Amino acid sequence: MRFQHKTALVTGGTSGIGRATCLRLATEGARVAVLGRNAAEGAEVVATIKKAAGQAAFYRCDLAQPAWVTRAVHRVLTDFGSLDVLVSNAAVMTYLPLLKLPLTEWDNVLNVNLRAFAQLCQLCLPTMPAGSAIVAISSVHAHQTTPGVAPYAASKGATEALVRALSRELPIAQTRINAVAPGAVDTPMLWANPNVQNGTEKIEGAIGRPEDIAAAVAFLASADAAFIHGTTLVVDGGRLAQL
Ligand SMILES: NC(=O)c1ccc[n+]([C@@H]2O[C@H](COP(=O)([O-])OP(=O)(O)OC[C@H]3O[C@@H](n4cnc5c(N)ncnc54)[C@H](O)[C@@H]3O)[C@@H](O)[C@H]2O)c1
Repeated sequence: MRFQHKTALVTGGTSGIGRATCLRLATEGARVAVLGRNAAEGAEVVATIKKAAGQAAFYRCDLAQPAWVTRAVHRVLTDFGSLDVLVSNAAVMTYLPLLKLPLTEWDNVLNVNLRAFAQLCQLCLPTMPAGSAIVAISSVHAHQTTPGVAPYAASKGATEALVRALSRELPIAQTRINAVAPGAVDTPMLWANPNVQNGTEKIEGAIGRPEDIAAAVAFLASADAAFIHGTTLVVDGGRLAQL
C-alpha cells in the first residue's frame, strides 16, 4: 500500500493507460482524482475503484482549454486538500504530413500533450508536499517515429525535455519528476493509428497491456523511486533496443 493517505490526479483517466493507472494507484491506497472528458467512462472508473473499497472522484476537463484545467484542479484541491501524485497521461495524435497539417491541429496536439502538462505543474506544484511525485507519459515516438505524426513526436520529445528541465527546479526531496515512454500498448490510441493499421509502424514484438505501464508509473510515483529524478523510463518490451 505505497499510496495510503495520498491523493493522485490522473489526466485521461477514463481509458487505456490512464484508467489502468487510476485503478493501480487506488489498489495501492491512493484517493484518485480521475480527469477526463467522458462522464460516463469516468463514472465507470470511479465505480470500479469504489467497488474495490477505494476512493475516487471524476472531474470533467478538456485539457485544450486552460480555464477548464484551472477549474478542475481547484475542484480537486477543494475536495482532497492537497496532491501527492500528478500523472500527466492524456494525449492526442494527428495523422497528416506536416505540409498538410492545419496549424490549428498542431496547436491542439501541443496544447493537450505539452501545454496542459506545464499548466498542471504550475497549478499543482505549490500544493504538493515533500515526497510528492509527478509522472508524465511520453512515448517511444520521442525517440524513433514514423511519417505523419510530427506534432505528436515533437510533443513527446518536449515532454521528456520538460521533465528534465523541471527536475532542475524541483528539490528531489520535495517533488520528483519523471516520464514513462511506453511502446505499443493495447489501447484505443494504438489501434486508431493508421500507420499501425497499414503496417508503416511495425509492431513485431509483444504488445504491452495498460497495466504494464501503470505498474511503471506507480513505481516512479512511489518512494521506491526516491533517487530517480528527471529521467525517462522506456517501457516497451525491448522494442527500441532492436537493431
Ligand atoms: N497505446 C500506446 O501504444 C501508447 C504508446 C506510447 C505512448 N502512449 C501514451 O499513453 C498515453 C495514454 O494513451 P492511451 O494509449 O491510453 O490511449 P487512450 O486513447 O485510451 O487515452 C488517451 C486519453 O487522453 C484523453 N484526451 C485526449 N484529448 C483530451 C483533451 N483535450 N482533454 C482531456 N483528455 C483528453 C482521451 O480522452 C483519453 O482518455 C498518451 O499520452 C499516449 O501518448 C500510448
